Amino acid sequence: MHYSVLKKELIESLNIKSTGIYVDATLGYAGDASEILRKIKRGYLFAFDQDPDAVAYSTKLLSSIGSNYKIFPCNFVNMKECLKSENITGVDGIIFDLGFSSPQIDSEERGFSFMHDGPLDMRMSKEGASAKDIIDTYSVDELSNIFYKYGEERLSKVIARKIKENVSNINTTLELVDVIRDAVGANYFYSKHPERKIFQALRIEVNGELKVIEEVLPDAIKLLNKGGRLCVITFHSLEDRIVKNIFKKYSEVDALVKGEKDIPDEYKPLIKLVNKKPIVPSDEELKENSRSNSAKLRIVERI
Ligand SMILES: C[S@@+](CC[C@H](N)C(=O)[O-])C[C@H]1O[C@@H](n2cnc3c(N)ncnc32)[C@H](O)[C@@H]1O
Repeated sequence: MHYSVLKKELIESLNIKSTGIYVDATLGYAGDASEILRKIKRGYLFAFDQDPDAVAYSTKLLSSIGSNYKIFPCNFVNMKECLKSENITGVDGIIFDLGFSSPQIDSEERGFSFMHDGPLDMRMSKEGASAKDIIDTYSVDELSNIFYKYGEERLSKVIARKIKENVSNINTTLELVDVIRDAVGANYFYSKHPERKIFQALRIEVNGELKVIEEVLPDAIKLLNKGGRLCVITFHSLEDRIVKNIFKKYSEVDALVKGEKDIPDEYKPLIKLVNKKPIVPSDEELKENSRSNSAKLRIVERI
């Protein structure tokens, strides 16, 4: 169903205690979660996923391993409140394996892929505005901004204009691909898939992907018990930059009091970096699964 990227490295880096409380923020098809559950016979696992298909599949899988888990079928941005509702204010480890799962990208009907024909959807949660709603309602400037910001696409304006000119005829993924190719024309002779960046940008916008990472990571850091670890796998530079900056901020003395003699506790760092450079997949893993190509694992520990 889904190949869990950097699985061995992720599980090892969590330092799992059999009595600990752990959180899998991106349950997916429970590749990582089932491994954690097997190791915490007397502990507890909380998991999040906003995709109802992933939750249905993983509920069955986890139940075959144990009953010491609870799945919150919602966005991980609600982590602090959801755990509080279970009287949990401290945990021993949290993992994020960001982005989409293989079943999401491989199912035509979810509309994530520029390789398969399907409705222009891209909603992980199957709720809210779809990619089609976005191209219908955003102006040329708004579309161009997201293509530039989330796709780092130099021809964002040209592509946005062409999409708006043809918007009433774009209902499916492959119809959007055709319009993008038409817009970039000869400018993209060097790229096999000029649509890749535009699909990435639309997906990020539809799912509010970067905003929720910025919001949840400070909460996740504060939820960790002393010695607890937070492990995050990212799949593109925009995500990785956010993770790296937040980890840097919380692992240094607050800039307000840097250089002072007696630093009050509230300004001291909350975490230390476990690895200065991110862990990347081995050559062996890359051979097995080319999708792990851009994966990076960053780990911090609460002090
Ligand atoms: C890469 S997959 C995780 C795969 C999982 N580690 C495994 O081993 O099967 C990412 C999953 O996170 C979910 N997801 C992504 N962003 C989310 C968010 N903000 N809130 C909740 N779930 C999210 C997606 O729906 C997807 O199922």
